[in-house]
Amino acid sequence: MKKHIGVLTSGGDCPGLNAAIRGVGKAAIDEMGMSVVGFCDGFRGLVHDRVIRVSGDQLAGILTDGGTILGTSRDKPHKMLVGSKTENMIPAAVDTYHHHGLSALVCIGGGGTQKNALRLVEQGLNVITLPKTIDNDIYGTDVSFGFDTALQIATEAIDRLHSTATSHHRIIVVETMGHRAGWLALGAGIAGGADVILIPEIPYSIDVVTDAIRARAQRGRRFSIVAVAEGAMTREEAETIEALVRQKKDAQSKRERKEVSARLQAFHENHVDHTVKLTEQLERLTGIESRLTILGHLQRGGTPSAADRILATRLGTACAELLRDGVHGVMVAARSEGVVPLPLDEVAGRKKLVPPDHPWVSAARLTGVCLGEP
Ligand code: F6P
Repeated sequence: MKKHIGVLTSGGDCPGLNAAIRGVGKAAIDEMGMSVVGFCDGFRGLVHDRVIRVSGDQLAGILTDGGTILGTSRDKPHKMLVGSKTENMIPAAVDTYHHHGLSALVCIGGGGTQKNALRLVEQGLNVITLPKTIDNDIYGTDVSFGFDTALQIATEAIDRLHSTATSHHRIIVVETMGHRAGWLALGAGIAGGADVILIPEIPYSIDVVTDAIRARAQRGRRFSIVAVAEGAMTREEAETIEALVRQKKDAQSKRERKEVSARLQAFHENHVDHTVKLTEQLERLTGIESRLTILGHLQRGGTPSAADRILATRLGTACAELLRDGVHGVMVAARSEGVVPLPLDEVAGRKKLVPPDHPWVSAARLTGVCLGEP
């Protein structure tokens, strides 16, 4: 019987999503004789049965386009805002799947998507996922598509900031995305020759950072580039978070757990303008004029790099092959030159953070980059 598969993209967008949709679609339709339907705006489209027919026409010319032709959202099927209420919409998602007579559903997304996909697997659906995110923090895959393009954008930004920082003898702080993982700040920082790189995995001391900048100034280097991941934090902040997480785990009552959760949330809300405060602090403590550039969503927009197009095509076509062979319940992970189907229950809920002994970390240290560690 002809297989009919569904595809959706979920979570924050990134360059390479269209290349992945095209890879799955072309291989499934043209090479394996399957038919494909796309769901709009992530899991919301699946819940509300909003579809786009996916055929050769829709797939033509999208390889180089940024974003996703299917649209995306951060909606979770088990906790979806419907009107003014949050509801469990998994039964509606399951109904849509059966209504279309799907053989399988392909969910293209990041960490949250892996968890949502597993929830559908637990309802008996055949689901397979592809790893995308500019943060590169998906467990089990060497790399996720979107990362290489974002890395290039952030590196180019640092290159450009270098010349203006030099002319004005300023500190320029450049904030990259990455709440929990510092791959982007670390990679772009190394590639762009940043003088200081601050990432969430290595909490920093402001004294160490200011000493490094002062030492540069004494050597006649009157400018400094500080690459910071949005989730970077001081050692004191890291200790506060650790204590709150411990308290939440040990909480004796629901009320206590709720109180600690509210304090954790307040901490994160407060942390949003962390790089603004850091920039002011650096100016005050070093006496060197300082400026901040937040790269934000620029890192997620535009055409994918060649490496991301190849990776997304490789993973997308491998996904179609796995579907043809009846494999599901897995994420198609990139491993060296090949791919590995990893069980979703192994991937969901885990993150690939920067290990403190990662070769990129040692390379940064050995080229004199200050990582803020005492
Ligand atoms: O998709 C991951 C990510 O790019 C994070 O690095 C960033 O913190 C977040 O998305 C921003 O999300 P949004 O687009 O919802 O503001």
